[in-house]
Amino acid sequence: MPPRVIAIDGPAGAGKSTVALRVARRLGWAYVDSGAMYRAAALKTVESGASPDDPAAVLSSLASADIQLDLRNHGWSILLDGRDVSEAIRSRAVALAASKVSQIPEVRSRLIAMQRRFAEGAGVVMEGRDIGTVVFPEAPVKIFLTAQPKERAKRRLDEEQEKGRKATLAEIEREIQRRDKLDAERATSPLRPAPDAMVLDTTGLTVPQVVERILVMAREKGFAANR
Ligand code: DC
Repeated sequence: MPPRVIAIDGPAGAGKSTVALRVARRLGWAYVDSGAMYRAAALKTVESGASPDDPAAVLSSLASADIQLDLRNHGWSILLDGRDVSEAIRSRAVALAASKVSQIPEVRSRLIAMQRRFAEGAGVVMEGRDIGTVVFPEAPVKIFLTAQPKERAKRRLDEEQEKGRKATLAEIEREIQRRDKLDAERATSPLRPAPDAMVLDTTGLTVPQVVERILVMAREKGFAANR
């Protein structure tokens, strides 16, 4: 039987988190943010004083790391060594470090094993970069969300400003481009749509429009929204 998984992949700022969480709520499924796991690994690395560019140092800092997702809170709570780091992982510095530590195959295999365990119970909507290609290649619904780079940068800038952080559009655009390049060009599980994914450009679409399109696909596979 195929797993009850909806895989939502795509680059930074494409709207994956907002959309994935809403789809999960409508279906009554769990929501898992796989990027949060890479971010927690990156935070551990940075806090240990290891360079995210040095695979040996990263792996030694992660050897004793305990990374847990608290699904009772729709996947929004991520615990690192028992500490809630849900907010701490959201900085731009951690995002870049996450893009670097996620290049390391041993880091990926450890986190992928955790991600697969989430599908053992109820249905799950999981967002990331390689969910449809590597983590759940047999997922019945695969979406690759994207948007024009300017639009993605604008969305991220709005998020930064909502949090009261200073940033310029040009800075955010540069950072997004850098991460896209790292994520798309890495040797292991690069960011790319699965051959059977629906590619959805969200530029100019509202969140409810995107959510409805995904729910239509889910319904075609026999997964009904309960509201
Ligand atoms: O989705 P995000 O921006 O929180 O992810 C942070 C980084 O983690 C991203 O730049 C690449 C990496 N990542 C990954 O390699 N594979 C995933 N499934 C999710 C995230």
